[in-house]
Amino acid sequence: MDLVGGLKRRAQSVPWRIASDLAQRPMIHTLRTRRYDASVALHRPALPRLTPAQDAILAEVDQRGVSQRDIATLGIPGSGAMLLSAADLAQAWADRLRARGREGIDFLYVPADEIARHPEIYRFGLDAGLLDLVEAYIGLPIAYDGVTLQYTVADGRPVSTRKWHRDREDRRMVKMAIYLTDVDAAGGPFQLLPILDPASYETGPRDMFYLREADEVEQDGCVLGTRPISCEGPAGTAVFADTARFFHRGKPATGNDRAALFFSYFARIPERPFFCYRSGLSYRQIAAMTDDLSPRQRAAALWRQTLPLPWRLIPPSAV
Ligand SMILES: [Fe+2]
Repeated sequence: MDLVGGLKRRAQSVPWRIASDLAQRPMIHTLRTRRYDASVALHRPALPRLTPAQDAILAEVDQRGVSQRDIATLGIPGSGAMLLSAADLAQAWADRLRARGREGIDFLYVPADEIARHPEIYRFGLDAGLLDLVEAYIGLPIAYDGVTLQYTVADGRPVSTRKWHRDREDRRMVKMAIYLTDVDAAGGPFQLLPILDPASYETGPRDMFYLREADEVEQDGCVLGTRPISCEGPAGTAVFADTARFFHRGKPATGNDRAALFFSYFARIPERPFFCYRSGLSYRQIAAMTDDLSPRQRAAALWRQTLPLPWRLIPPSAV
């Protein structure tokens, strides 16, 4: 990175670093937790009712962190067409993304402007049934942070999101991954450690979201004494996971490249808004893609507009 770019990035990170440090002060942390608990209790009677199939997914995510289904069995209108469109897009970008990988870029994804040209992919994440499921799990009105089409080159390198980590955006989150390629053990499956109390694992005040180097090493197929759940499946497999409560990673791919969509959800006022806005889509693009949707869908998509002002003034951290 050039010097000016590096300095600019560092200057922009000052506000969120201050906010992050303040939020960790015990008194502030306790106050915010109390407010959060009260909001959850207040919202409980308004939570959507789930179908038995949705209930089963919610229970699995709650108890073991992850639940896997064939997307076709979820009854979401338009899933077949959406899958075709996303698979075509992944195919069209594969060579360019592989070239970026060779240039040393670790986190490869189809640019947001391309996603904005395919609103059926973005809008899929706003299906009313999906919002019900996510809201029932999070326990509060929800935010939809959009979708990214991520590409993993089969180079076996354990970098970026291929290291064990927890996501930092909120206390509870749902990520829905949909595979666009067949994913076997060598194809970079999503993996998760079903440890119920990972918050007790801390590496330091700023960096409690990644495992220490020594703990990264598998022993008898276990990490932190637990066997990872490895989500393998054909194209069209949907994986629901709470990536905030549970350590997870994309296993480094060694056999085939992997393409997958990642839809992201958390509470409308998340714990750390400065780690959100990951899709790269602008307000204008999101508004254009959602203008004919219901007030509930628009509120989830345009969640940033209802954040309290101080949070909106803090520039988000770079991906
Ligand atoms: Fe993650």
